[in-house]
Amino acid sequence: MSFLEGLNKDQRAAVEKVDGPVIVFAGAGTGKTRTLTTRIAYMITEKDINPKNILAITFTKKATNEMRERVMKLSGINAKYVTISTIHALCARILRQTISKIGYGLNFEIVDEEDVNKIIVDIYKDLDISKKYFSPRAAANIISSYKNGIGEINGIIKEVYDAYQKRLKESNQVDFDDLLVLTNEILTDFPDVLEYFQNKYQYILVDEFQDTNIIQYNIIKLLAAKNRNLFVVGDDDQSIYSFRGANVLNMYQFSKDYPERELIKLTQNYRSSNAILKGSNNLIKHNKHREEKELFSDVEGTLQDVTIHDAYYYEDEPRYIVDEIKHLVSQKNYQYKDIAILYRTNVISRNIELGLIEGGIPYQVYGGFAFLKRKEIKDVLSYLKYIVDPENMFHFRRIINLPARGIGDKTIEKLLLYKKEDEILFDAIERFHNEFPSTKSESLLEFKNLIVKLQELFEKLPLPEFYDEMLSLTNYKETLRNEDDEESNRIQNVDEFKSILVQLERRADLEGMSNKDKLQIGFDDVILDETVGTKQDVNGVVLSTVHSIKGLEFRAVFVVALEEGIFPSLKEDSDIEEERRIAYVAFTRAKEKIYLTCVSRRLIYGRVVLNQKSRFITEYVASLDWKEHLEEQKEIEDNTPIKVGDKVTHCNFGDGLVISESGSIIQVLFEKDHSFRKILRDHPSIKKRK
Ligand SMILES: Nc1ncnc2c1ncn2[C@@H]1O[C@H](COP(=O)(O)OP(=O)(O)O)[C@@H](O)[C@H]1O
Ligand SMILES: [Mg+2]
Repeated sequence: MSFLEGLNKDQRAAVEKVDGPVIVFAGAGTGKTRTLTTRIAYMITEKDINPKNILAITFTKKATNEMRERVMKLSGINAKYVTISTIHALCARILRQTISKIGYGLNFEIVDEEDVNKIIVDIYKDLDISKKYFSPRAAANIISSYKNGIGEINGIIKEVYDAYQKRLKESNQVDFDDLLVLTNEILTDFPDVLEYFQNKYQYILVDEFQDTNIIQYNIIKLLAAKNRNLFVVGDDDQSIYSFRGANVLNMYQFSKDYPERELIKLTQNYRSSNAILKGSNNLIKHNKHREEKELFSDVEGTLQDVTIHDAYYYEDEPRYIVDEIKHLVSQKNYQYKDIAILYRTNVISRNIELGLIEGGIPYQVYGGFAFLKRKEIKDVLSYLKYIVDPENMFHFRRIINLPARGIGDKTIEKLLLYKKEDEILFDAIERFHNEFPSTKSESLLEFKNLIVKLQELFEKLPLPEFYDEMLSLTNYKETLRNEDDEESNRIQNVDEFKSILVQLERRADLEGMSNKDKLQIGFDDVILDETVGTKQDVNGVVLSTVHSIKGLEFRAVFVVALEEGIFPSLKEDSDIEEERRIAYVAFTRAKEKIYLTCVSRRLIYGRVVLNQKSRFITEYVASLDWKEHLEEQKEIEDNTPIKVGDKVTHCNFGDGLVISESGSIIQVLFEKDHSFRKILRDHPSIKKRK
C-alpha cells in the first residue's frame, strides 16, 4: 500500500493493528496524528470497514477539519462519512437524538459562557447572595469544575448550583459541561441507547488523549465497551488542560482498563530540526513528573534556526516580528500561512495584531473574539431560531422590534395576558387584532405574516438562499446602518454568517436532513467551534493561544511575551510544570525556525509593567551543545563583521553566541551566566572567534 510506505516500522504496526485496544505513547511531532489518519484510511480501503462505523475524536474543530482533509487525501471521497468530531460536538449530536429520555426537549439550546454568567447573576439576585462572597464568574468556574469531576460543592455554592441546573432545565438549555455530563448519564442509564451508539461507532480513535478528562474518558470507554476497538494517541508532556480536569493519568489508566492493549512508542520526530528540538528536550527535562523521553530528528539544522529577541519596549516586539515575517516571505519563500505567532493568553494578541495591521501583514486569529457573541449575529440567530420555533418567547422579544415596529414591552405584556394558556401565539395575535384593532395590533399581524412567509421559504429553499431572502424580507440590515463602522463591521459580519450556512449545506453527514435539523446540528458545531468568524484571512499569518494551536505545525513559529508573570503566567493556582508543558507545546510546533521574544517593559491591562525574561527562554537555550560548540572554536580570530550565529568573546562577560542583530546592535547570549546583552556590533570590547 503506497500510503503505508511513508511510515516507519512502529507507525505501521499501529496502523495495521485495527482490532482491539492500542495506545500510542509518544512525543511531539513523532507522527501520532499522521498514524491515526493513515489508520482510518487503511481501515476503509484495506479492511473494508464502513466509514460510518468509524469515530475519530480530536481536540479542536480546526484539528477536525485538518484530519478530514488528510483522510480524504489518503482514501478518497468515502472518508466523508467518517464521524470526525470534538468530544463536545459528538455529545451534542448524541443528545439531539436522546435527551428527551431525561426530560429535556430535543431542540434544547446550548448556552455560552456569557449566558451562564447572566443566569448566575440572576440567581444571585433571587437568592440574595452578595457578589462579594463569591463573584458570579468564580461560582460559574466552581460549578464547571464540579461537573467535570474536580472538587466538591457545598453551602451557598450548592444552592446556586441547584438553582442553576433547575433554571437551565426549565428553559430547555444546557451548558458546555452538561453536554458531557448528560451524555454520560444517558449512556449509563439507558442500555438500549448505549448499544445503538456502540453499534454505530465500532471503531474509535482518539487524538491528544492526554487531554481527556475523567468524564470524557468515561464516555469513550462506554462507547468502546462492546467492541473494544479503541485506538488512542497521546503525549504526557503535552497535557495542558488540567484546568478543565484533563488527567494525564488516563494514559496509565488505559493500560489498566485494557490489559490486552498493545503499547506502541514512537521516538523519531519528523517535524523539526535537531537544532530546534534540543531546546525543547532541554526545557521539558525540568519537569519532574513525566515519562522520560528524548526526541531526535534526522534533520540537523543550524543554530540560526533559533532566534531570541529580547527587546526593551513593548512596541519593539511587533515591529521586530513584522520585519522578520517580511524577510521570510520575500527572501525565504515562506507564505504567510506558514508562520504562526503564539501567546500564552489572548490579551497579548492586541499588541501583535496592531503591529501586523500597521505592517500590512495579513493574519487570521484562532480562538479569538467569539463571532457568535456579537450582537448582530445573535440577532440573526434569533430570527432563524424563531422561524423554527415561533412559540419561543425569548427570541420573539429579541426580534419583534428589529427593525423597529413600534411594539413595546407594554403591548407584548398585553398580548401575553390576552393569550390563552394552550393557544399558539399566532392565533392569539389574530384574535387580539380582531378584538382591539390598532396600529400596534396591525404591526403584530404584519410581523406574524412575515414569519409565516419565511417559514414557507424555509421549507423549500437551500439555507444560504433562504438566508438572503430572510435578510431582504426582514430588512434587518437597515437597522445596522447607523451602528456599522470600521471597528464593529456589523454588516460584514451578517454577510459572513452566510458562510456558515454554505458550509452546512455542503456537509455530507447532513445530507438528506431537513433545514431545521441541519441548522440545529450545524449550530451546535458552530457554537462549539472557537475559530468561527474571528478575523480570517486564510492565507494570513496565524495568531493563536498555545491552547488553540494544539497538534498543528508551522514552518516558522514566534512564541511571544515570554516573560515571567505572562508565560509562565503567575496566576494563583498555576502549576509551573503545566506552564512548562504549555511552553513545550508551543516550541514543538516549529518545523524550520523558532523565534522566542520578550520585552522588559510591557503595556498590559492599560499599564506599563517591568517584566523579567521567562525562565523558559533560559531553559530552552541553555543547551550543552551550544557550549561545546563554543568550546571547540575558541581563540581563533576573524575580522569580518560580526553576524548572527557567530561566536564571540567579550572582555567582561566571556564567551557568547550572537543570537540576533538589528542595525548596528547585536544581541549576545553569554555562556557563563546565560545572560542576553545588547552590544554595538563594532564595539572594541567584543571580538569574533572562529
Ligand atoms: N514516517 C514519516 N515520514 C515522514 N514524515 C512523517 C512521518 N511521520 C510523520 N511525519 C510528519 O511529521 C510531522 C508531525 O507529524 P504529526 O502526525 O503531526 O505528529 P504528532 O501528532 O505526533 O505531533 C507531520 O508533518 C507529518 O507529516
Ligand atoms: Mg498530533
